[in-house]
Amino acid sequence: MRKFGLIGYPLSHSFSQKYFTEKFQQLDITDCKYELYPIEDIAAVKNILQDPELCGLNVTIPYKQAVIPFLHGMNAVVEEIRACNCIRIQGGKAYGYNTDTVGFSASLVRKLGQGHRQALILGTGGASKAVEYVLRKLGIGFMYVSRNAGHGVLRYEEVTEDILRRHTMVINTTPLGMYPKVDECPPLPYEAIGPEHYLFDLVYNPPLTLFLRQGKDRGAVVENGYDMLIGQAEESWRIWNS
Ligand SMILES: NC(=O)c1ccc[n+]([C@@H]2O[C@H](COP(=O)([O-])OP(=O)(O)OC[C@H]3O[C@@H](n4cnc5c(N)ncnc54)[C@H](OP(=O)(O)O)[C@@H]3O)[C@@H](O)[C@H]2O)c1
Repeated sequence: MRKFGLIGYPLSHSFSQKYFTEKFQQLDITDCKYELYPIEDIAAVKNILQDPELCGLNVTIPYKQAVIPFLHGMNAVVEEIRACNCIRIQGGKAYGYNTDTVGFSASLVRKLGQGHRQALILGTGGASKAVEYVLRKLGIGFMYVSRNAGHGVLRYEEVTEDILRRHTMVINTTPLGMYPKVDECPPLPYEAIGPEHYLFDLVYNPPLTLFLRQGKDRGAVVENGYDMLIGQAEESWRIWNS
């Protein structure tokens, strides 16, 4: 049996387990299974990695950074952004990858029109680092927006209409608006949004968050995190089988 799984905490509902279990059924793959490893302490990953049947893991909140010391090696992306959401286990050794970058990049460029030079990244957590990496690769400038003041970081109350007009791409990497708190959205002067804007929300439940709705109502191009989610899962599968 080839085992795969997800480490994180808590893991109440898992997109990945459902996705891979259905994939194995649809493709008639009978020698693979995908399990959940809700671990309260990252040190428990040591034992999990010793399972000789385990071939790959996904990593989610809160361990994308904390798992790095347990890896035997990592690719250049993980090295750079210090966040790992995919592990390939081969010959008893664990190698780290970041497939959020691949999923985000593929999804972002699908609707990317011409002329986007400046982006706002809302939130400074783990997923924002994958977003930053992709924007750098695309040559798009960015500013972080956070609840906390910091060097080169704007606070929400500092985002004026003028700043929002100049940053035609806005990417939400906060959980604001995620089910069940669907009435929440990042506090921005949305009046400044227009058809020249592209709003991307990493949240995918609900499909049209209040953040995206504010943009859509003003003619902006919008995209949610669903295709990114599928993209990162498929990239994990490719890595585990390569
Ligand atoms: N679609 C996908 O494939 C995909 C992949 C990864 C993540 N995600 C989603 O992206 C979101 C972020 O994930 P993550 O791993 O980066 O989480 P995280 O590490 O917890 O970071 C989220 C960041 O959002 C900000 N934030 C948190 N609560 C907030 C609040 N109440 N108000 C305003 N800002 C708040 C914080 O930044 P500041 O402290 O700087 O304000 C925080 O660092 C989650 O909703 C996750 O489900 C989706």
